[in-house]
Parts: sequence; structure tokens; C-alpha cells
Amino acid sequence: MTSTPTQAPLRILGIESSCDDTSAALVHLNGFEGKIISQSIIGQNDLHAGFGGVVPEIAARAHAQRLDLAVEQAKINLDEVDLIAVTTGPGLIGGLNAANAFARALSSARKIPLIGVNHLAGHALTPCLSDGLEPPFLMLLVSGGHCQFLAVEDYNHFTRMGSTIDDSPGEAFDKIAKILGLGYPGGPLIESEAKTGDATRFKLPRPLMDREGYDFSFSGLKTATRRIVDEFITKGGMTLQDRADICASFQFAVADVIAQKSERAMRAFIETHQNAPSNFAVAGGVAANQTIRKELESKLLPLGATLTAPPLSLCTDNAAMIAYAGGVKFQQIGINPDELLTRSRWPLDINATPLFGYGKRGAKA
Ligand code: KG4
Ligand code: ZN
Repeated sequence: MTSTPTQAPLRILGIESSCDDTSAALVHLNGFEGKIISQSIIGQNDLHAGFGGVVPEIAARAHAQRLDLAVEQAKINLDEVDLIAVTTGPGLIGGLNAANAFARALSSARKIPLIGVNHLAGHALTPCLSDGLEPPFLMLLVSGGHCQFLAVEDYNHFTRMGSTIDDSPGEAFDKIAKILGLGYPGGPLIESEAKTGDATRFKLPRPLMDREGYDFSFSGLKTATRRIVDEFITKGGMTLQDRADICASFQFAVADVIAQKSERAMRAFIETHQNAPSNFAVAGGVAANQTIRKELESKLLPLGATLTAPPLSLCTDNAAMIAYAGGVKFQQIGINPDELLTRSRWPLDINATPLFGYGKRGAKA
């Protein structure tokens, strides 16, 4: 059960730079109720598009150049800030270091307390900020950098139920889009291609479905799709319809695996949280995909579960979620100086088995 914070309302400046978005936000927190006063997000898709994925060195330099701009664009008056919350992991270390140096300087110059925030906690608590959802609930985080089921037991207590053992779904979308020459980021491009495609034409594997538990694997699915593309190339090329059919079949395979595993995880969550409402929430860029959302609904609603999907601007990386997570942590636990050290790997659930999936977008745990 949740505890009640006793402290006064807080005005929090959030700073996020763990992957390829430089973001600053001002969030007001009253109890567990958060209100976004302003936010700016400076993306980097244009800088990485030519590479088909995020290049850590390019990302780090861009963050260092744009952090002050992000705060300026969000029109944040530092005299009205009670707490600075900065992401210190997990993520790409260059970007994390840039924001950490920036936040430390602001904190020291303006005498504002500084708290280090786990990026995954930000994502996991987003439905609390956007929709007022209260723990406990089951969260599926699916993005370019992450893929895991987190049981959000309380605002600062998370249990990881499962995770990817290799790639994230976003990486798989991006890779397939790159192979098909569609561009970057791949998810929305594949989704749009798939609209005119036949999802039943190509039989693709459903990795790890025959294994118990809630872990995912996407690398086999990626390889199987690549093989289909290679066969077309060997035979002289593909038509636009072939390409659309590949996109639709791939997208449906991802959606099917995600939805089936979610049903399995939700059943287990309901079993272990019998006195709580059956709430399921999703976040991360991949959660924008309409086929995935539809498949999730079809598997979760029959269980009597609700499905909360925050608006897309809060599903992807943003500083408002970091401000919120930093605020509730400050109120419930306080500042831990060790958590101001940046780290590429920082599991939310330290009791969960370590995972070694490590793609272009950084650590998955
Ligand atoms: O959450 P996000 O913005 O950043 C990371 O933490 O990575 O997620 C970006 C990822 C990219 O891999 C992108 O291809 C994927 O989310 N994505 C999608 C869609 N929109 C973005 N994947 C599938 N369908 C979409 N509509
Ligand atoms: Zn993220």
C-alpha cells in the first residue's frame, strides 16, 4: 500500500539526457499529484538518421550543447525551483555526464537541492503523473532503450517481472526499417507501411513463447525477417506490396508476442495482488504503435484489467517524468548522494537477476 508524503508542495526542475532527447521541465507536486507547468524536448533524430540508430558520441555532444537551451525554452524561473531532479542512469554515459555536470553547477550556484533519478522510475511512474494512476499496477515499458515488465508496488518500490534478453522492440523496428531502406526512427515508418500490408503473408517466429516466464527476445525475429528480405534481394528485388507485407507481418509478430506475454504477466500480477485493482499501464515509444495497443487491449480487457497509455509526448523520453519521480523520491526517501554518480546500468529492482542485453541504445536493465 502507498504511504502519504507529509512534506509541503514541491516545485521541481527535471533534467533528462540519457539517450537522444535533451529535455527540461517544471513540475509541481502536491502529495502524489503532479502538474506539468512547462516542458521542452529537443530531439536528435536528424543527427542520427544517417546511421540508422543513436550514435553515443554524437548524442553526448549534442546534449552538452543544448542543456541550457532546453531550460531556457521551458521558460523556467530558477527562483521558483525547490528541487532539481536529474537522470543519473541507466543510459548512455556521455549524455548522463553532461546533464549531471550541468545540474550540479545549477544546484551549487543557486543553492537548490539536487536528487539523482533512475530513468526507468521516471517511465514507470508516468501514468501516476499523466492519469493519476495509483500503485500497485503492472507496467510494460517498451521503447528503443528498454523492454521490461515492472510491478510498481509503490512509488519507490518496483519488482521486475521480466525483460528482454537481447534487443528492445524499438531496436528491432529500427533495424528492419534500415534493412528495408525506410529511414529512422523505424517504428512509425514500419507502422505506416504496414497499413497496406498483409500481416499473414510471412510466417515469423514468436521467440520465447514456449518458455515459462515473462522475458522477451527480439533478435531471432529480427534475423528471420532479415532472411526474408535477403531472399527477395537474391531473387532480384521486391515490389512495394512485398515490402508492405513484410512490415505488416513483422509488426504483427512483435505485437502478438508483447500481448501474449502481457496477458501472462497480468494473470500473475492479479494472482499476487488480490486486494488491488487490476491496472496495467504501458509506456515507451513503441507503445505508440496502434497494432500493439489493439493486441494488448484484446488480451488484457477480458481479464478485467484496465489499460492506461499516457499521451505519446510522455511515453517517450521527457524531463517531466524525471521531475515527478525525483519529487516523490525526495518526499518519501530523501537524497542519496551515491545516486548522483552516473551509471550506464542501474536496475530498478536490485533483487532481480542481472540482464546483459545491451544494444545501441544502452543497457536494458
Ligand atoms: O521511448 P523512445 O522515444 O526512446 C527510447 O527510450 O529509446 O522510443 C523510441 C523507439 C524507437 O526505436 C522507435 O522506432 C520506436 O520507439 N517507435 C515505434 C513507434 N514510434 C516510435 N515503434 C513502433 N511503432 C511506433 N509507432
Ligand atoms: Zn526511456
